[in-house]
Amino acid sequence: MNKQPIGIFDSGVGGTSIWKEIHALLPYEQAIYLADSKNAPYGPKGKEAIIGLSIKNTELLLRKGCKLIVVACNTATTNAIDVLRNTYKVPFIGIEPAIKPAALQTRTNAVGILATKGTLSSALFSKTSDLFAGNIQVIEQIGDGIVPLIENGNLHSEDMKILLKSYVQPMINANIDCLVLGCTHYAYLIPILETLLPKHVRIIDSGEAVAKQTKAVLKQGDLLSTETEKTISQFFTNGNLDIIKSLVGHVYDVERLDF
Ligand code: DGL
Repeated sequence: MNKQPIGIFDSGVGGTSIWKEIHALLPYEQAIYLADSKNAPYGPKGKEAIIGLSIKNTELLLRKGCKLIVVACNTATTNAIDVLRNTYKVPFIGIEPAIKPAALQTRTNAVGILATKGTLSSALFSKTSDLFAGNIQVIEQIGDGIVPLIENGNLHSEDMKILLKSYVQPMINANIDCLVLGCTHYAYLIPILETLLPKHVRIIDSGEAVAKQTKAVLKQGDLLSTETEKTISQFFTNGNLDIIKSLVGHVYDVERLDF
């Protein structure tokens, strides 16, 4: 069991930002990554559709023998993780917007959150937000259009800059000092966002916390790999090979698979 891979899935290439954190912390764990780019973005789809896609991805990873699954997508986590945990025996690690750390750190009592429609409208997000950010101003912004630009290879484009500026300007006007990135694709926007935000605004994402949680759950279940050599991760995409390769590095094995 211990030498079996960790499975990671996302609606597309964004979850590779989570794979990077996991691979850095757990270099002896073999990982299999699924980019469901054909069905991206998940954000505007309804809950039932997101659950169906999450089940499809999970079942493929289970057929590949995964011992634990990381749902490297805030939209899939906030809409489907309960169903996944109630349906399958393997442990699941999810990712949610880091609203609690932001609420604890803010000094201006105003935080921005950029996430998909599916995440911001989920019951899980409302619950977390009410619990930890009840007394602060939370400026929510749906990141419409961001995921398609990244999935189409336009991460570093003028269109992206213009779109992001329009999303963060109202937050700057509201005097935020923390910006929560509630979508795994958005980790790749950090260098651009840093040029658009005042220096004192902290950008908070959950990638490192997810990697730490993955390690803790593997340890707890006695599932940590017994491998002593660094492992090579495998990537599968039902979309464009070059775009995922440009994010993970050309040394990695990326295959096209219809799923
Ligand atoms: N990476 C997904 C997330 O974290 C993007 C969702 C989408 O495909 O819209 O929410």
